[in-house]
Amino acid sequence: MADLREIDTAKPVPRHVAIIMDGNGRWAQQHKLRSRLQGHEAGAESVRAALRACDALHVRYLTLFAFSYENWKRPKDETDGLMRLLSRFIEDNIGELMERGIRLRAIGRLDLMPADTRAVLDAAIARSRGNAKLDLVLALSYGARQELVDAARSIAAAVQEGGLSPAAITEQTIASRLYAPDVPDPDLLIRTSGEFRVSNFLLWQISYTELYVAPVLWPDFREEHFYDAVRDYQRRDRRYGGR
Ligand code: FPP
Repeated sequence: MADLREIDTAKPVPRHVAIIMDGNGRWAQQHKLRSRLQGHEAGAESVRAALRACDALHVRYLTLFAFSYENWKRPKDETDGLMRLLSRFIEDNIGELMERGIRLRAIGRLDLMPADTRAVLDAAIARSRGNAKLDLVLALSYGARQELVDAARSIAAAVQEGGLSPAAITEQTIASRLYAPDVPDPDLLIRTSGEFRVSNFLLWQISYTELYVAPVLWPDFREEHFYDAVRDYQRRDRRYGGR
């Protein structure tokens, strides 16, 4: 496994890394724990590890798939537990986020989240708004198809109001109506737990993103795994279809 010294900083380091944090349930099962939630709880430490790695490499944006739109179909015990875990994570870490210049943001159908979790999230987002070292973007109640539906609705409304003609719609029109239009597309997408799936995550934004599958379950993910992914990324030849 790579450590920080093995990263060649003369080569490009991804500006935006996105992560599908997969495998918490399997980790809980492997450790013979009573509930899947204990896997999610262990996963919170891996989030901190990913933040440390971003700090060390000066990654500017980190987007984490923390709760999908489809995750609402899981048993209420688990969704309630995940919402509580999220609130606790924010409350326990906001001091450190502030010290390290991290701006917390969120994308997704946030109106579906419970009011108390939403209040904790909104307060941390407002408090950290002025931070500019790293944007930590949490995808919550997020689905990429839903994001594209929301963008389509917003474009249709603009057409209906007469401010936009269908012929004037470009890629930029769509990109500008996504949840976080100022965030550049991810350079690198990491998925843990050895699964090769995109799972309705950032479908528009990952058109030219380099994909990396880490073999470990998310609760076992540490800085070294992040550095492995970046080292692999640095060996890629990004051509954007141009040649
Ligand atoms: C997927 O594992 C993971 C999730 C559905 C939730 C991710 C949440 C965390 C890592 C909690 C901490 C995050 C923050 C931001 C505090 P899974 O349950 O689908 O695992 P499985 O595929 O093994 O069942």
